[in-house]
Amino acid sequence: MATKSGEGFSSSFGAIMAAAGSAVGLGNIWRFPYICGKYGGGAFLLVYICFVFFIGMILMMSEFVIGRRSGEDPMKAYPKLRPDRPGWRFVGLAGLLTCFLILAIYLVISGWTLNYFWESLTGTLAEIADSDFGTHFNAFASSAFRPVLFIALFLALTTLVIIGGVEKGIERVSKLLMPILVVLLLVLCVRSLTLDGASAGIAYLFQPDFSKLTGEGILAALGQALFSLSVGMGVMIVYGSYLPVDDNILKTSVWITVCDFAIAVLSGIAIFPAVFACGQDPTGGPGLVYQVLPVVFNSLGGIGRIFSIVFFLLLSLAALTSAISLLEALTQWLSNEKNGRTKSAVLMSLLVVVLAVAASFSFGDGIWSSFKVGGMQLFDLLDKLTGTILPPVCALLTVLFFGWFMKKEDIIDELSNHGTVKVGYFKVFYYFLVRFVAPAALLIVLISGLIN
Ligand code: PHE
Repeated sequence: MATKSGEGFSSSFGAIMAAAGSAVGLGNIWRFPYICGKYGGGAFLLVYICFVFFIGMILMMSEFVIGRRSGEDPMKAYPKLRPDRPGWRFVGLAGLLTCFLILAIYLVISGWTLNYFWESLTGTLAEIADSDFGTHFNAFASSAFRPVLFIALFLALTTLVIIGGVEKGIERVSKLLMPILVVLLLVLCVRSLTLDGASAGIAYLFQPDFSKLTGEGILAALGQALFSLSVGMGVMIVYGSYLPVDDNILKTSVWITVCDFAIAVLSGIAIFPAVFACGQDPTGGPGLVYQVLPVVFNSLGGIGRIFSIVFFLLLSLAALTSAISLLEALTQWLSNEKNGRTKSAVLMSLLVVVLAVAASFSFGDGIWSSFKVGGMQLFDLLDKLTGTILPPVCALLTVLFFGWFMKKEDIIDELSNHGTVKVGYFKVFYYFLVRFVAPAALLIVLISGLIN
């Protein structure tokens, strides 16, 4: 319990569940499968693995170290570690701003997911004809009232957990939900793999097609690796400040990374064999989950309805534990002696819901769809900023701080728990990655992204 407020995770297991809960989200189940399919399946996977383990995981360790060493929120953490360089606090601020924007767009998509869960439960989805799912999705997402209702519901749940506190709210909910999520996902995988014609889906996902792996695909892999591990915007600094003092940061980060990666791959296994077995289009893109999967579920008959309920429940739970981490980062920052946790969480929720509702109204043919910023609808602008631009910028600044400005002795001391854990040669390897490889890779990606 490193923070001044005395809040923290009670155990390493609790910390792993909470941080894995943050990492595993819409990014794994909704986004990973379709971009993996789009950029060459196995070929994309190879590049993605490298980014996840050599850059994403390294960033996670660094953020945990910054968080636990300082015991502060991201904005105060940097200047606390280098009091002579107060300007670094703007990196923390940029991260928090990114969290705010991600949370807004995350709420919109989570709201859709919750609505689909509801429609599976009540049987509405089962009554829709296969050819009408596209229209159904667009009509729903562009309407004014219903998406907002589900955004509000989802945010209320998130806020309640945050009000519960770090240990009694976040940790408890994550310890409960994460195992349920894994079981639900495994059930879906088994069903998907046992459908006739499932092997085509597995081939699509794993067979490397290097011709489809473009430069754009490589950028997408890096962006996805950062987004999926929740690194680059300070969320892991926040969770790092709650890590138990004796937690082994290296081990914890490896566990979370492996878990996040495995769940992304399992999601692909749950989705693509079913999509192929039902003769659907695997390149459905972002609409895959809302327009293609319901067709798959309906074609499975009565049991399909159960799978539909299970799937959208799974997605809602995964989204919830991620949204929790985003709101926690904002709440921790706002809380102080005067503003307690409850007041801060409610205030932040009220602020972010305004942006989320505006983004929802601007989506598709929504009532604000003609309002454009820089030629883009608000929803698309937020998607672009949070998906490709802001996280790599913040990530680059974080590794630069870590590799070049933080004291090496502090880092080794923190990684080795004051000399009680052996870090051996790893520290040399790690330091090399964090000083040279990660900044160079992030810089290249950013520059090519900006040129595009
Ligand atoms: N990692 C989450 C996901 O994959 C998204 C997220 C990003 C959560 C950044 C927190 C911070 O869906």
